[in-house]
Amino acid sequence: MTPRLSYLAQNLNTETAFSVLAEARALKAKGKDVVELEIGDSPFPSTNHAKLAGIEAIARNITGYCPSLGIPELREAAAAMMGREFGVKVGPENIVVASGAKPFETYFAEVFLEPGDGVLIFSPHFPTYTPNLDRRGVRSVFAPLKHENQFRPTAKDVEHFLATDPKPRAIFLNFPHNPTGGVAEEADLKAIADVVRGTDTLVFSDEPYCHMIWEGRHETILSQPGMLDQTLAAYTFSKSYSMSGWRIGFAVAHPEVVTSVGKLINTSMSCSPPFVQLAAAAALKHDHAQRDEYMDLFRRKVHLLSDGLAKIPGVNVNRPKGTFYVFPEVSEICNRLGITSHGLAMYTLKGADDHFGVACLGGECFGEAGKGFLRFSCAEPDHRIEQALEFLPEAFARQDRVDKFLVENPQFRLNA
Ligand SMILES: Cc1ncc(COP(=O)(O)O)c(C=O)c1O
Repeated sequence: MTPRLSYLAQNLNTETAFSVLAEARALKAKGKDVVELEIGDSPFPSTNHAKLAGIEAIARNITGYCPSLGIPELREAAAAMMGREFGVKVGPENIVVASGAKPFETYFAEVFLEPGDGVLIFSPHFPTYTPNLDRRGVRSVFAPLKHENQFRPTAKDVEHFLATDPKPRAIFLNFPHNPTGGVAEEADLKAIADVVRGTDTLVFSDEPYCHMIWEGRHETILSQPGMLDQTLAAYTFSKSYSMSGWRIGFAVAHPEVVTSVGKLINTSMSCSPPFVQLAAAAALKHDHAQRDEYMDLFRRKVHLLSDGLAKIPGVNVNRPKGTFYVFPEVSEICNRLGITSHGLAMYTLKGADDHFGVACLGGECFGEAGKGFLRFSCAEPDHRIEQALEFLPEAFARQDRVDKFLVENPQFRLNA
């Protein structure tokens, strides 16, 4: 007998990148050559001091429980980094550590939100926001990020949400933005802060790409006067220090919020592994130079990929201002081939050629607003990105292969 699952479990939306990754790996195991541009992971090793500190901590048997809020070394190093790099003056009492940035979506919802509350999300959006709000019975309300506005958030959308939603309570910001690569300018964040400041609207500011800024400097809403009291901002070591598998990140918030998140951690994960926290603290203290070298390499990859895609007929794309994602508009190609954008992504992986494939994601994996776009990450060496760029225009020209793929996968037929 199959056990009956909860409504939540039955309806949970997940990150498609992980399912496409599994398909890509299965094809590779059968001998297909696949360029993997589907998941937002780094092709580089974790930074050196982080690795050494983690190994040394295990050798010293620092392998037991530790404080739920995080070890003092990491909380202090994180607070110092926020001041040094982003001009946000906070102390360790403002920092709470968890296993990456993602857990803070759940913690934010549990600390602040009640069933029936409305949360504004700029969309396309990171796919785990809605399931984490669903867990609390919270309503996700979407405002579109527009290509013609370089995917920047607007204070007007926030104003409209606060004026029209029956129970507005929070907004989610994620800049630099996954999947579009859009960046919020200081003026955008100031205007949003001016709308929400002093109201009981809270901000979840998800900032995993704070070091992946390709023009100017990273701006966070935490720097806007008074916003530390209304914001929980999440940071991770996954992207900046190539540490995604270590599962480590932290959040910055008001000390009372930090204490409250600590209770949620106490009652769920207990704590993040102490040897991983020591590795993360070492990264913050000693690995800036290596991190910045990695960021330069990412910038080059992003430009290589976006400039190459821009040359393909029917692809409409600008260089992203941040992140290691490129988000081209491909609706002309989809319309010509009669395939959805995620169908196009699956076709380039599975259908276009028997021996070679490119894994990427359809924009609809990030909400309705992503339809007609593809998302590529820069998770492969440059020569592999070049191979993908050579392959894609050929793949988009093979109507016969598309037709065969659609017969086998009719769910990807446009308007099906
Ligand atoms: C917008 C956004 N939020 C959160 C995360 C999760 O980060 P982590 O794996 O460090 O928890 C990611 C990772 O891709 C992301 O793109």
